[in-house]
Amino acid sequence: MTNFNKYLNNDETIYNDALSMIQLNKNILLKGPTGSGKTKLAETLARDLNKPMHSVNCSVDLDAESLLGFKTIETNEHGHQEIVFIDGPVIKAMKNGDILYIDEINMAKPETLPILNGVLDFRRALTNPFTGEVVQAKEGFSVVAAINVGYIGTLPMNEALKNRFVVLDIDYIDGETLKMIIKEQSKLKDDEIIDSIIQFNKDLRIMSSQGQISEESASIRALIDLADLTTVIPVRRAIKRAIIDKIDDEREQQAIQNAIELIFE
Ligand SMILES: Nc1ncnc2c1ncn2[C@@H]1O[C@H](COP(=O)(O)OP(=O)(O)O)[C@@H](O)[C@H]1O
Ligand SMILES: [Mg+2]
Repeated sequence: MTNFNKYLNNDETIYNDALSMIQLNKNILLKGPTGSGKTKLAETLARDLNKPMHSVNCSVDLDAESLLGFKTIETNEHGHQEIVFIDGPVIKAMKNGDILYIDEINMAKPETLPILNGVLDFRRALTNPFTGEVVQAKEGFSVVAAINVGYIGTLPMNEALKNRFVVLDIDYIDGETLKMIIKEQSKLKDDEIIDSIIQFNKDLRIMSSQGQISEESASIRALIDLADLTTVIPVRRAIKRAIIDKIDDEREQQAIQNAIELIFE
């Protein structure tokens, strides 16, 4: 993989504990706000363990097919059509002993995920309802799931499901670590501008925690976009293009405008 940035955190126990938990064959639940690096942590673990990662993005539309796979018609080497089953992310990860990443696991409908109960407990097995095949996970198969903890309210996770995980609580990155991330992942190297946009991001995060603006505006992704733009255009215009003009709500836009006046005169 090229251009892979390091996973950084003030709290080194996060990465080290995650690695130990995987080695103990525990399922890990990452809990934290959007942009706190949950996906980044899972990708880093996969890379360091030298394993592919198979992802499932949960939503109300998630169904058994998107987890397990689907049937389709293929023409075989004799020119005959036959029905084959294409393995989905869960079965692929199980068969290969890879990492399964289940993003926003709390967003799935409660009736969808119980199909994974046997995968997530000591059995590490599943009977594929589409084929009848019994799939036993290969050694090394691990599960990392993520849940976005919002200020505005987080959908609770089904208790029977939660029971099958150990939890890593992840907080937003800030201070020196955030500075390192910006230097590593953006083109911006100017310390003074970096400090000012970190301060600005901090204000946005407070506003987001008070429900004045959406979390996206205060996210690390928005911050990295902003950092890149400040290397080619003035910072105020960069904020307009990276953050403000993405927002539909005029009051939100105004709130951010006010924060700009406080930091960038
Ligand atoms: N701890 C971190 N170390 C390195 N990069 C990070 C970290 N946290 C966030 N990032 C960067 O911020 C962006 C959002 O992180 P991501 O992992 O997608 O967050 P989440 O999955 O929690 O929403 C990515 O571009 C990622 O590279
Ligand atoms: Mg993510």
